[in-house]
Amino acid sequence: MMTTRIIGTGSALPANIVTNDDLAKIMDTSDEWISSRTGIRERHLADDSETAAVLAAEAGRKAMENAGVSAEEIQMVLVATSSAENYFPSVGCQVHKMLGLHQAAAMDLSAACSGFLFVLNTAHAYIKSGLYERILVIGVDTLSRTIDWTDRSTCVLFGDGAGACVVQKDEEGIIGMSQHSDGSQSGVLTSFAPTQKTPLSEAMPGSPLYMEGQAVFKFAVKTVPDCISRLLEKEEMTADQVKYFVLHQANSRIIQSVAKRLKVSADKFPMNLDRCGNTSAASIPLLLDEMNRSGKLEKGDVLMLSGFGAGLTWGATLLRW
Ligand code: UT7
Repeated sequence: MMTTRIIGTGSALPANIVTNDDLAKIMDTSDEWISSRTGIRERHLADDSETAAVLAAEAGRKAMENAGVSAEEIQMVLVATSSAENYFPSVGCQVHKMLGLHQAAAMDLSAACSGFLFVLNTAHAYIKSGLYERILVIGVDTLSRTIDWTDRSTCVLFGDGAGACVVQKDEEGIIGMSQHSDGSQSGVLTSFAPTQKTPLSEAMPGSPLYMEGQAVFKFAVKTVPDCISRLLEKEEMTADQVKYFVLHQANSRIIQSVAKRLKVSADKFPMNLDRCGNTSAASIPLLLDEMNRSGKLEKGDVLMLSGFGAGLTWGATLLRW
């Protein structure tokens, strides 16, 4: 049966690295607090030239090189982001221009930190339907531009970056997927864009990222293992068959708790959040690219990708490498 396979990966990180000690110089925090509560030690922060589109295009270009496919062979570009600098054109259309993807349709999708899983699953649906055979999927976020830098409980968590995969029709690849949303919990993680004055309403200044950290933590440690277990059950597979659980990189304590609930060794949960922080939609493909390029992945390995984020949204993708 035909499915969707990841045939190449790429990523891009801003040049500037900001350590926990650097943050402690500008706010009341410490490396001890941040690293013990989250596992994060440093993050990359974008400068003015490193827009979401610039990072997305670099990650996309590297994924295409890694896959050995040319611009003409890409039929669609799907970008997950919730921090694009402009409402339109989409980041997808900017990447389309930067990489010369003349044959591709392009669009963005917003599902916050679950965004990459949602674009990967959407690409899979397009491929399964027979509409497209080869798609570039990208997760990118520059949340540093949407953060309240006076709120020490959120601003220390996030980093900027982009990760990308080329996916194509194949006999092996995605085994199963699931994706979910619960809008009733939308208030625990929000960010509002500014608006202009209209004849009927006043201009709104917008508001930066707001998060009820403990509510999100409790949600994640229950929902992620449930989602993974259900997907394994549905596909009649067990956790033992999974080589790596590639989880959204928000907090090492969340990842360790998920491992414990699934009764799986924490060694099967690779992490890069110590160096990248929480890069939102970029976190899973960034980690996947790191694993791919360091030779950790062998053809046939079973991977479980899973993430959660604002919306609230969550999901998982079970695949054979
Ligand atoms: O992709 C998005 C998903 N988001 C998440 O995954 C976030 C999930 N939540 C978390 O990771 C954790 O809730 C946090 C890391 C955000 C916070 O950890 P916590 O253990 O829940 O800490 P807390 O919010 O209960 O704060 C504990 C204390 C407070 O002081 P008091 O009231 O006990 O005196 C905070 O004011 O830590 C203080 N605090 C800080 N201290 C030093 C909060 N932020 C900081 C900070 N540095 N950066």
